[in-house]
Amino acid sequence: MKILITGGAGFIGSNLADRLLSAGHDIVVVDNFNDYYDVSLKEKNVCANLNNPHYKLYRVDICDQDAISRVFSDNDISVVVHLAARAGVRPSLENPVAYVETNILGTVNVLEQMKLHNIKKLVFASSSSVYGNCRAEKFSEDLKVTEPISPYAATKSACEQIIYTYHHLYNINAVCLRFFTVYGPRQRPDLAIRKFVEKIESGVPIDMYGDGSTRRDYTYIDDIISGICAAIKYDKTGYEIINLGGGEPITLKRMIETIEKVLGKSAIINKQPMQPGDVDKTVCDWKKANNLLGYIPQTTFEQGIKKFKEWKNENI
Ligand SMILES: NC(=O)c1ccc[n+]([C@@H]2O[C@H](COP(=O)([O-])OP(=O)(O)OC[C@H]3O[C@@H](n4cnc5c(N)ncnc54)[C@H](O)[C@@H]3O)[C@@H](O)[C@H]2O)c1
Repeated sequence: MKILITGGAGFIGSNLADRLLSAGHDIVVVDNFNDYYDVSLKEKNVCANLNNPHYKLYRVDICDQDAISRVFSDNDISVVVHLAARAGVRPSLENPVAYVETNILGTVNVLEQMKLHNIKKLVFASSSSVYGNCRAEKFSEDLKVTEPISPYAATKSACEQIIYTYHHLYNINAVCLRFFTVYGPRQRPDLAIRKFVEKIESGVPIDMYGDGSTRRDYTYIDDIISGICAAIKYDKTGYEIINLGGGEPITLKRMIETIEKVLGKSAIINKQPMQPGDVDKTVCDWKKANNLLGYIPQTTFEQGIKKFKEWKNENI
């Protein structure tokens, strides 16, 4: 099966490409290698695959209609996994136009190509941020999500809706996966766990926003990749929104304590006020993922931090 991964040079996309190549699939990657973070990290993510005959890389922007159209014309694609996006929450407050362009316009370009080339299967990277400051104890897919609190979250919510429209009009079968904070090898350098591990190890102070009581449902990368692979295989027709989380919400304070324990080093904490756009908590209800995809997160938070540290020691 030939699978197109947009954003395939990034953190999640490159881990997915590696897993799918090992499973014997042909992979086409589209990525514009933007400089949202150090581009050399993306180059490292893809370099081992560049000579693999089952792997093709296009350095293309999903907003460039002609270039994206050539990718679809040149390849007989069966499934699209659409991960390319501007992905940070806080920077979306500084540059909302770029988020709307890449995340919404780029997604419509991809959907248009799927329509034109009669491709019937899409897996989309949505986000737990669409739940906003939802008051429910656990976030399940049937909750109404009409109050996103950052431009990033609003773009992901808009994409879920436009994907539904393409499903309705053109029978594109779609699974929108709402990822809950993903961490692990190749993690984006702007995300808290990577920043904290690097800073605590080198004795640099870390910024702790709020009083440490905010909670996140952290998901280890291997679990997310297993969930995406199950969504690719999912053969029922229709449109589904499915949460993928770690199932173990962790307070910021406990996150820092776990990193300190794994590194055997104390953090120097610089207390800061809560940041606009940040949600108070994310708590994943992954029953639907279990029912439809057989998804069960396998990695506890402490195990995940240990694996991340091992990867970092070998690779950075
Ligand atoms: N990492 C998380 O915790 C998390 C949580 C929820 C959702 N997501 C979503 O998962 C997806 C992947 O996230 P990630 O953490 O791997 O981020 P990432 O930034 O590492 O990967 C995204 C990739 O998309 C590429 N890209 C961006 N704009 C593009 C464009 N216009 N054309 C082509 N390529 C473009 C980037 O160069 C990058 O390599 C994103 O859609 C993100 O919103 C991530």
